[in-house]
Amino acid sequence: MNLEVDLALVCHPRVRSTFTPMIVTTAQLYKVAYGKFAVGAYNINNMEQLEAMIRTAEEMFPDAIFAVHLDHGDEEACYDCIDSGFYSSVMIDASHEPFEKNVAITKRVVDRAHAKGVSVEAELGMLGGVEEDIKVDEGHACLTNPEEVVEFIKQTNCDSLAAAIGTSHGAYKFKGQQSLHFDVIEKIRDNVKKAGLPPTPIVMHGSSSVPKSEVERINAAGGKLDPSARGVNEEEYLPAAKLGVTKVNIDTDGRLVWTRVHREYFRDHPEEFDFRGPGKIFVKEYADFIAHKNEKLGSTGQLDVVRASVRKRQSAEAFQLV
Ligand code: 13P
Repeated sequence: MNLEVDLALVCHPRVRSTFTPMIVTTAQLYKVAYGKFAVGAYNINNMEQLEAMIRTAEEMFPDAIFAVHLDHGDEEACYDCIDSGFYSSVMIDASHEPFEKNVAITKRVVDRAHAKGVSVEAELGMLGGVEEDIKVDEGHACLTNPEEVVEFIKQTNCDSLAAAIGTSHGAYKFKGQQSLHFDVIEKIRDNVKKAGLPPTPIVMHGSSSVPKSEVERINAAGGKLDPSARGVNEEEYLPAAKLGVTKVNIDTDGRLVWTRVHREYFRDHPEEFDFRGPGKIFVKEYADFIAHKNEKLGSTGQLDVVRASVRKRQSAEAFQLV
């Protein structure tokens, strides 16, 4: 069972004050972000990363707004998270199933999630690469078919769509430099509009940029990563966001930061065995990493708009206006 958690984050530029985190659903974030900027969804794989994220918020983005999201859940994992009361959002990934079965599973999860105010992301099409214990080789990966999207959304009522638009999970996405399939993103947006449905936020998985400098530093400190590793061009995040890519999932790049910090630390301090030293460096470097990504996603400085929108909806709901 995959219980990997995303923290989707919108934040201020760096300022220091008291830490007051607000947890919202991803759907609440999408309402503000759609067509303007993308929300960064950063996978949390261990407690140190979680602490880094919380400290980052505490020290640098004190009024940050989070959604706590299950990434790539099966049906059972989704129900666990929905019932836990801790998650504001889940992803059901039945994309490996035929269309009808994917729809049926997704719809069951949506019904149960919406009854508890939890948002649902569902996948159509299939990304290549490795994620946890799921490996999809290039031959089985397939781009999302924009012609299937409207029927999928109508039948499932999911809140967002994880679409395969040319990326893959992991550090080895492209041979040479490639671009996102902007044509697929546009076609999905246009088909949804033509069908008279409200705009559907698209989620981009496999969005790490795999910086060459990180790969080189890891290898210089004893790593053996393939120097041909390639990721998504960060300059494509914002143009994709303008077309409806509203959540951008990033995991590999955070792992590269962790690996580089720890490898360099123990190379330079071979007598050390205390991992609290590199842990402190990692927290600082991870904060810089998130600040940089959020700039590229256009979410830096959007906090006041998001907060105002969430507050407005909350008070409207209190008076049962929406
Ligand atoms: P990366 O491997 O590109 O970071 O993608 C992570 C992801 O999509 C998690 O759902």
